[in-house]
Amino acid sequence: PSSHVSLTVNGERHSVTVDNRTSLLDLLREHLGLTGSKKGCNAGACGACTVLVDGRRVNSCLTLAVRLEGAEVTTVEGLAEGDQLHPLQQAFIDQDAFQCGYCTPGQIVSGVGCIQEGHTGSAEEIREWMSGNICRCGCYVKIVRAVEQATGRK
Ligand code: FES
Ligand code: FES
Repeated sequence: PSSHVSLTVNGERHSVTVDNRTSLLDLLREHLGLTGSKKGCNAGACGACTVLVDGRRVNSCLTLAVRLEGAEVTTVEGLAEGDQLHPLQQAFIDQDAFQCGYCTPGQIVSGVGCIQEGHTGSAEEIREWMSGNICRCGCYVKIVRAVEQATGRK
């Protein structure tokens, strides 16, 4: 069975009909062509698919699209303003906080959430509140530095 759902993604309204089992991640990647959010584990364990739903961080691979009627979704594609990178995107570049880049969109969206939630009091706190985002390349120290930079602490 499929259902109709209307939601806003990066400020743009979309109305789509999707299979009831479609995840938000598949809706973004396969129906809306937004492939920035990555599919790592597809099981809630890596954070590569992290997006904001109504301002909160979620694993989009575990979120059913049909439950998002009226929701506001922000993906990594929605963070920059025109030519201006989001401060955390710029910080990832400045701090050299990625290697292969596969985890990076999820790290950045999660970092934006972490900053908005105010969990940035120390490097340890950032590390803890970003712990759902796995980096196989082991860039954690630089990722934390990037979040600190965007918070204005570095
Ligand atoms: Fe969603 Fe890994 S792909 S948590
Ligand atoms: Fe490669 Fe994080 S930069 S997994």
